[in-house]
Amino acid sequence: MEKKPIYVTMPTLAPLKEVNELLKSVWQSGIMTHNGPLLQRFEKEVKEWHGAKYHTVVVNGTIALQMAIKALELKGEIITTPFSFIATTSAIQYEGCIPVYVDIDPDTLTMDPAKIEAAITSQTVAIMPVHVFGNSCDIEAIDTIAKKHNLKVIYDACHSVGVQYKGQSVFNYGDISCTSYHATKMLNSGEGGGCYTTNPELDAKLKRIRFFGFSENKTSIVESGSNYKMTEVHASVGLANLKYLQDALDDREVKYMHFKERFAVSTKVRFQKIIDDCNYSYFPVIFDTEESLLKVEKALNAELIYPRRYFYPSLNTFTDIVPYVEMPVSEDISKRILCMPLYKSLSMQDVDRICDISLNVLL
Ligand SMILES: Cc1ncc(COP(=O)(O)O)c(C=O)c1O
Repeated sequence: MEKKPIYVTMPTLAPLKEVNELLKSVWQSGIMTHNGPLLQRFEKEVKEWHGAKYHTVVVNGTIALQMAIKALELKGEIITTPFSFIATTSAIQYEGCIPVYVDIDPDTLTMDPAKIEAAITSQTVAIMPVHVFGNSCDIEAIDTIAKKHNLKVIYDACHSVGVQYKGQSVFNYGDISCTSYHATKMLNSGEGGGCYTTNPELDAKLKRIRFFGFSENKTSIVESGSNYKMTEVHASVGLANLKYLQDALDDREVKYMHFKERFAVSTKVRFQKIIDDCNYSYFPVIFDTEESLLKVEKALNAELIYPRRYFYPSLNTFTDIVPYVEMPVSEDISKRILCMPLYKSLSMQDVDRICDISLNVLL
């Protein structure tokens, strides 16, 4: 029998008939978008699932980050991490701000708070750290620094659906936390994103920015906004998938732990240090050398298994868009980290097959 390729991830999808049930109501009402009933339900139910305060659903996580910068009226330098997806940096640049990198902690892979103060200048207006692979940043340390220097904090929480920090949703921290409901994320609406805040005025402003800058009663334009609304079709997919979120989270944790136990027999690998709660949405393996990584990747590819080099290369090396500033930890880790396939429909046999092939190279 022909072997099917295994990719790094696959979306967690509700049964099609459950999506169709929701879509039927869209067809009946004729409301496709414009803050429709399903967007409002998705916004409310995801917020309540997390125990978060305020939630503005938008078209994707990148736009959520851009809207957060816009809503906080930031102009100047924003301290961020070089160990992330390009969207973290590009959102800052699209809003006319300048990304300034601070290196990461080699164990947690999140921004190293001990290095933040040295990067603060008279132009610094905010800090935008990333909860990498669902592992929360040292939020207490970051918020203390932000308060001391009067800086705003926007968390890139695009990997953090389902994550708690100190007993409550990680989305309740920072001025605004932004997440992604992209197909590859723990909860997906195909494309989608959300801005979370505990500040009602900021939430109302985000909702105005999402809808062209209209006032709440839609009679006048009260600020400069755009069109960042999620459609009812996407909200249907998100709502249907929300029912299966807890299952997906439980499944990831079981598979992550199994992967970790099996890989731990090799002295050539180590794992991300989890500081509090985690959703185990990725299984990143940190190799001793890039050479070991490439050998394992090649052996897996030969069996049609495609892990991904998240995040590679380190963002500070994209010199077509940012000036190069050395970030030794991020540059080093980026070359040695590989995320193994991990998703709900991946069988335990396939998890073991991935371990067998990798360990065959490593041991
Ligand atoms: C850390 C991080 N930030 C931002 C984004 C952007 O999210 P989206 O793809 O929903 O625009 C991603 C996306 O994959 C991400 O991994």
